[in-house]
Amino acid sequence: MNPRIYITRPVGREAVEILSACCDVNCREQDLPLPPAELAEALRDTDGLMLAGARLPGDVVAQASCLRAVSSVGVGYDNLDLAACTARHIPVTNTVGVVEETTADLAFALLLAAARRLPECDRYVREGHWRYWQWTLLWGADVYGKTLGLYGFGNIGQAMARRARGFNMRILYCSRRRAAESVEQALGAQRVDKDTLFAEADFISVHVALNAGTRHSVGAAELARMKPSAYLINTSRGAVVDEESLAEALQQHAIAGAGLDVFEQEPHVHPTLLALPNVVLAPHVGSGTAETRARMARVAAQNLLDLLEGKRPKTLLNPEVFDRPTGV
Ligand code: 8YV
Repeated sequence: MNPRIYITRPVGREAVEILSACCDVNCREQDLPLPPAELAEALRDTDGLMLAGARLPGDVVAQASCLRAVSSVGVGYDNLDLAACTARHIPVTNTVGVVEETTADLAFALLLAAARRLPECDRYVREGHWRYWQWTLLWGADVYGKTLGLYGFGNIGQAMARRARGFNMRILYCSRRRAAESVEQALGAQRVDKDTLFAEADFISVHVALNAGTRHSVGAAELARMKPSAYLINTSRGAVVDEESLAEALQQHAIAGAGLDVFEQEPHVHPTLLALPNVVLAPHVGSGTAETRARMARVAAQNLLDLLEGKRPKTLLNPEVFDRPTGV
């Protein structure tokens, strides 16, 4: 019997074709949130799961008695209970390596949009306020030559640094591990401690993964350290930033502005943020381009095939399940 696959979103024909070559594929047709009970039901007789834009809680993993492979579509994996999968000896992969440049594009777009007040400019024109040119009209802040502070310096942080070099920016970064000297040199990036990063940067861009150690690690104290002229950009995960403190800092002009693609309780956005003109908002579309979504689906499909054939994919999140005998 062919392995049975469940895909949580309509991820496109190519991924379905890759998997259909040797699996029975059930691809959900609705591009809508998936209730855990519906996922649990779908997984009752499923060997492999391609998890796109859905949560995989521990109790659903516990009930999925046939499940033996999970391929998550995306880099962040705070949406799935990795420990529960590992406990059941289920290998899990992500799509690291294909979303980074596209996400950095959006982070830089938010940075520019916040600095040059693009949504306000757009509304000003559309709403018919532009009747004559004014010297003081919608002034923003310069980006070129300023200091970019990268909070997190993994693939996306480094992709952001590459973009910033084109704007002749000074690049500071803060991360647990120091990057290789060759990387620092190539990007002109200097490692500093977190306090220095927040105090010296004109733009802070968040690129750490969400985990117990980073949750709310940008809070009132970090925001108070920032210059009143500085901006905060977040394309990582909303809960890295304490949204309440950010809303207050923006409202009181303790910082100049923000560009946000991610929020603590998506799709809920803090009502203060919705009302403020100095924050640019996007609905978690960091990897949202046709090219990148196609790549993500293709890589995730191949990862799932590899797992079901017992091959070790490169982007394994719990390698320990491959390093110990099945069933232990
Ligand atoms: C995905 C993301 O859209 O890669 C990530 O971590 O946040 C996005 O690229 C999201 O994971 C949905 O699958």
